[in-house]
This record gives sequence, structure tokens and C-alpha cells, in this order.
Amino acid sequence: MGDMTRTPLVLAFALALASGCNEAQSATATETAGNTAETSLSGSSSGSTSGSTSGSTSGSTSGSTSSSTSGSTSSESTSAGSATVPDEDYDAVADDFVCILDWTQVRNFRIHNFLGHLDDAIAVAESVDGGDYPVGTVIQLVPSEAMVKRGAGLSPESGDWEFFELKPTASGTEIGVRGFAEVVNQFGGNCLDCHAKAEPQWDFICEKGHGCDPLPFTDEQIAQIQMSDPRCD
Ligand code: HEC
Repeated sequence: MGDMTRTPLVLAFALALASGCNEAQSATATETAGNTAETSLSGSSSGSTSGSTSGSTSGSTSGSTSSSTSGSTSSESTSAGSATVPDEDYDAVADDFVCILDWTQVRNFRIHNFLGHLDDAIAVAESVDGGDYPVGTVIQLVPSEAMVKRGAGLSPESGDWEFFELKPTASGTEIGVRGFAEVVNQFGGNCLDCHAKAEPQWDFICEKGHGCDPLPFTDEQIAQIQMSDPRCD
């Protein structure tokens, strides 16, 4: 079975993620969603949910974390390409995650937009100045992990990115873990801890040269992991 040949590489990838981000283990244990204001992000700018932001540049305040973000306004950004419409959001479901080879490749990663903003998303990805990805953008490096851009102001500390740990199989995708600051992969690597190191103009996208600690994988190995996606046939 093909599964047996691809498993070691995927496991090795996850292990390397864990070991590359040592501070993750202790930092995340006590965090709860929506309650983490300590990340040192700059440039995360839009909206606010109650109590969870400092330095938010737009003035929306609603007293309830469970209410929608209506009334929040996207802050102005000098960077390219934000197509965010106020109040837009995308709450992904397991079936949204398909063979990653079906999505557009930009350098190492695969990108798609669930709300029809793919052109804008690619424009941001290709901008030399960076920018904020439009709501509904999904980006994956490997079949088992994804980032989805949620509505403005839902999670200022993660730039409104929701992180996913996925379980792709030949019969489809299950969502293992999803969330904002608290998502840790199965070996203890916290997504946000690593991705928050990207300089603000890159909107939490690490790639290479954006300020994140590098992954110990060659581009060829990453391509190989993508091609091993069990949903692609
Ligand atoms: C050890 C630090 C680290 C951890 C932990 C980590 N990532 Fe990443 N991630 C990176 C780096 C570095 C890249 C860029 C790899 C490359 O292109 O060479 C990356 C790439 C990605 C990409 C492609 C876009 C980009 O930023 O380049 C996505 C999507 C992604 N990671 C999602 C996740 C998710 C979801 C989690 C948690 C389940 C996670 N990552 C955990 C460091 C990390």
C-alpha cells in the first residue's frame, strides 16, 4: 500500500516541526482560545474581540466574543491586495480540504480561496511588498496542515488565520485540531509560535526569508510530501 511508503517522510516532517520550535511546548499548554494577548505581533491590525488585543488600530468594540465582527472596519494597509469585504468570513469544513495538488502552486505552497478571491490571494503572494491575504484564502505546505483566513477581527493575534491539523486519507479529510493561537501539531509544535515570526508585511506566511526559523526540508522534499497526498488520484 502506498500509505506505508509515505508515512515515514510525513512523520519525519512533523517531528522536525516539533523540534524546530522549542518554546512551543510550554507556551501553549494553558492557553485558551481568544484569551491570549501576549503575542508580540506587530502589524496585526484589524478589528477586535473583547479583551484580546492591544494596539489594535481600528476602533471596533463589542462586548461579546461570541458576537460577530459586524461594525469592525479593516484598517488601512499600505500593502497590496486586501480584498476583504467587511463581515466576510469563511468557516471551513472537512470536505473543503481536497488534494492539495488541485490548488494553485506559488513557490513551495498551494493556495486557494473559498470565496472567489483567488486572484487577489495570488496577487498578495506574488507581491514583493507582501500584503494581507483576502478572507477565505487557504494555504497549505503539506497535506496535513492548513491555514485559512477568517473574518477580519476574529483573531487579531494570529492575523485572523485559523490553523488546522488535518488527517487526509484516500477517502477524504478529517479535521484533527483547528483554532488560532492554541493549535499544536501532534509533536508539540505550535503553529502560531513559528508563523508569528514572519515579518508583519508577510501576514504570518513563513516561506523563506520572512523571518521564521527555517524547516529542515529541501524544496524537493516538500514537493515529494505534497505529491504523496493520499487524496490525489
Ligand atoms: C517549527 C516552526 C513551524 C511550526 C511549528 C509550523 N510551521 Fe508552518 N511553516 C514553517 C516554515 C519555516 C514554513 C516555510 C517552509 C518553506 O517554504 O520552506 C512553513 C510553511 C507553512 C505553510 C505554507 C505557507 C508559509 O507560511 O510558507 C503553511 C500553510 C503552514 N506552514 C501551516 C502550519 C500549520 C497549520 C502549523 C501547525 C499545525 C504549522 N505550520 C506549524 C514553520 C513552522
